[in-house]
Amino acid sequence: MIVAIDGPAGAGKSTVTARLAEALGFVRLDTGALYRTVALAATRAGLEPDDPSLGGFVAGLDIVVRPDGILLGGEDVSLAIRTPEMSVASSRFAAVPCVRAGLLDLQRGLGRARDSVLDGRDIGTVVFPDAEAKIFLTASVRARAQRRLDELQGRGVDADLATVMAEIEARDRADSERAVAPLRKADDAVEIDTTCLDFDAVVEACRRVVEAARATRG
Ligand code: DC
Repeated sequence: MIVAIDGPAGAGKSTVTARLAEALGFVRLDTGALYRTVALAATRAGLEPDDPSLGGFVAGLDIVVRPDGILLGGEDVSLAIRTPEMSVASSRFAAVPCVRAGLLDLQRGLGRARDSVLDGRDIGTVVFPDAEAKIFLTASVRARAQRRLDELQGRGVDADLATVMAEIEARDRADSERAVAPLRKADDAVEIDTTCLDFDAVVEACRRVVEAARATRG
């Protein structure tokens, strides 16, 4: 079974997906981490998103997803991909068709291997349009920025609310307006606005969507 969780930055996808996967006994795949890892590798190699060699570069990357992190060429990059710089860079590289094509098979292969919960921007629309359960998580820009700020400060990263809000609005625009696989709610996804819900309530709402999908499958 595939559970697809899409939505904009800071809507709570990561934490909710991790807890939901644990509750269901499913594997969790954070597809944003894949785009971040590509952005990190390309940045380190001095490549820009419009570099003609980017497709071959992405195809040659050695990315391994582990339950406890993500490896790039054997190096654990789980923390290095979580900086504000990589948030911006991943959004830029994610708009490039050859980057998306390069990550598509990897996501499908990992998702099909076992019952999975995948979170991203285009899981329910492009990666797994036939996913049995689809959820679209949203929240106000302010709520999303505050959560991202708390997360950054919790990791000792220096940041302020106005800057994080501006960064989130810019990423919303870039992710929603790009030509290939833009962020949008699948027609058959259940939308959950998390602005005024606490974490447990969101996980519970997601669990009900999955249970309803299971009941329909019989
Ligand atoms: O979920 P995140 O913030 O870690 O994602 C980082 C960027 O990667 C995000 O700005 C857009 C891109 N992304 C994407 O285009 N498609 C996905 N399925 C996941 C992430």
